[in-house]
Amino acid sequence: METRCFSMLKPGILNRRLVGEVISRLEKKGLKLVGLKMMNISRELASKHYIEHKGKPFYDSLVDYITSGPVVAMVWQGDDCITLVRKLCGATSPAESHPGTIRGDFCSHTQHNIIHASDSDESAKREIDLFFKEEEIIDWEDTLACWL
Ligand code: PPS
Repeated sequence: METRCFSMLKPGILNRRLVGEVISRLEKKGLKLVGLKMMNISRELASKHYIEHKGKPFYDSLVDYITSGPVVAMVWQGDDCITLVRKLCGATSPAESHPGTIRGDFCSHTQHNIIHASDSDESAKREIDLFFKEEEIIDWEDTLACWL
């Protein structure tokens, strides 16, 4: 069954000219991009997005980081979308993310781990609603889906 995953390229990705590389990896897997926007995140939006981490020792640095520069917010769609996106991202910690994954290849510090991906259907719905209006999501007809 098709599901959706919210994902976000975090600050620094634009500076490092990695936007195309990371999006390309997700596309090549066969996932369908149905929402895309570049934006600056306010502290208010950041605190809503990361509400479940409020009170954790890294919370303030997480909010500082995500509000420190523009991000690229995305909605991906496909069968087992959340599982696939998170596999491509790799583990949160660079010590555990394998080479070949996005974090494994491009990130050396947990606090700058370059990409966020929803961890459940429930958080995906919540995060998509936080970042996108209904009309900003375009579920285009995928005529090549039979080959994926
Ligand atoms: S936890 O403890 O299991 O809830 O944490 P986790 O789900 O692995 O990570 C949640 C987000 O917090 C970020 N994170 C950190 N930021 C800064 N410093 C430290 N030490 C740290 N540990 C975790 C992590 O990158 C996750 O961000 P997102 O945007 O969700 O990937």
